Amino acid sequence: MVFARLAVLVALAASHLTNAAIIKRFACSTGQTTTNEACCKLFPIVDQIQKDLFDGGECGEEAHSALRLAFHDAIGFSLQVRYSNRGGGADGSLLAFNTTETAFSTTDDIVASQFPVFLESGLSAGDFVHLAAAIGTGNCPGAPKLDFFFGRPDPVAPAPDRTVPEPTDSVTAILSRFADAGFSPSEVVALLASHTIAAADQIDPSIPGTPFDSTVGTFDSQVFLEVLLKGTLFPGNGPQSGEVESPIAGEMRLQSDFAISQDSRTACLWQNMIDNQNVMASAFKAAMSKLQVLGQSDLIDCSDVVPVPASFDGPIKYPASFSQSDVQIACAESPFPSLATVEGPAPTLAPVPGS
Ligand code: HEM
Repeated sequence: MVFARLAVLVALAASHLTNAAIIKRFACSTGQTTTNEACCKLFPIVDQIQKDLFDGGECGEEAHSALRLAFHDAIGFSLQVRYSNRGGGADGSLLAFNTTETAFSTTDDIVASQFPVFLESGLSAGDFVHLAAAIGTGNCPGAPKLDFFFGRPDPVAPAPDRTVPEPTDSVTAILSRFADAGFSPSEVVALLASHTIAAADQIDPSIPGTPFDSTVGTFDSQVFLEVLLKGTLFPGNGPQSGEVESPIAGEMRLQSDFAISQDSRTACLWQNMIDNQNVMASAFKAAMSKLQVLGQSDLIDCSDVVPVPASFDGPIKYPASFSQSDVQIACAESPFPSLATVEGPAPTLAPVPGS
């Protein structure tokens, strides 16, 4: 009897200890709570970024660009010790050294929009770039809530040139560039879920803001489906370098996305994302978590300052007038998912406003 009581007491004490460990949170003076007091200062900065950079929390041009900027910044990193400048990875060098790094082949106008908000925030360039990407991506319904790790030191040098893959690169070149930064083919495909909230300004400058899929404001798996539909047209003054024929008026298809969708090393990974929202979102989140701390160490987990995104419940559909007979299936290993078609005439996509 005494032993039984003791056991209950021990069990109760243990469960309290566990609960205490799980729920210990700091109350910030701004009203929010967080697991680490050092994160408190970020809540007002999150609000400021939403207001000054993302038009009050939109999944628009700036949010899309913030994600792309985080990628371009972080991928400036190499595992190979033989280079004297292996790059600082996710260090914000793209923002801080904006005249050097953006002069390389792929540039970003978002640097110009982010710079004044960055200066106002008081964060290091790396923390700013990667916090903005987590917030901006989360403004898109269906996106996972990305992690944010805090405490990057100021960047010391621009990233080496030629670290950002080009749409004209072969699949072999793209996979080997990513491998050199520590990413597997499956992580590369997961990261390309980003192209579901993407548009091109520079591929064909006559049609800025041309989206890569028909639902550019939603983080769904539509891009993985639409890249597989038979291409029939160039949306603007094409063909341009890095572009291949797309299936829908007003839609841009990158040569690299199409090549990756068809290559035997990546085709099944690509197909597996279609209408597989949870798998896609969690694989993207995991790969982003790795990307956004490349080359960094000793950071504090401040993920709880990132707002929770709205959900997307699906299922995705073929754009109007399309069906499985239009799909260029490249994966023989698994059956192609069965999807309904949006009703109505074939769409013409509008450009992303503000591009
Ligand atoms: C195979 C590697 C990749 C290539 C070749 C590539 C190429 C491109 C190109 C050419 C554009 C259009 C640029 C323009 O004309 O304005 C673009 C847009 C974009 N990319 Fe990628 N990309 C790759 C991987 C990624 C990754 C890993 C991410 C993020 C994790 C990403 C995020 C984006 C986003 C969000 C946009 C849209 C930006 C906007 O709408 O303003 N890309 N990409």
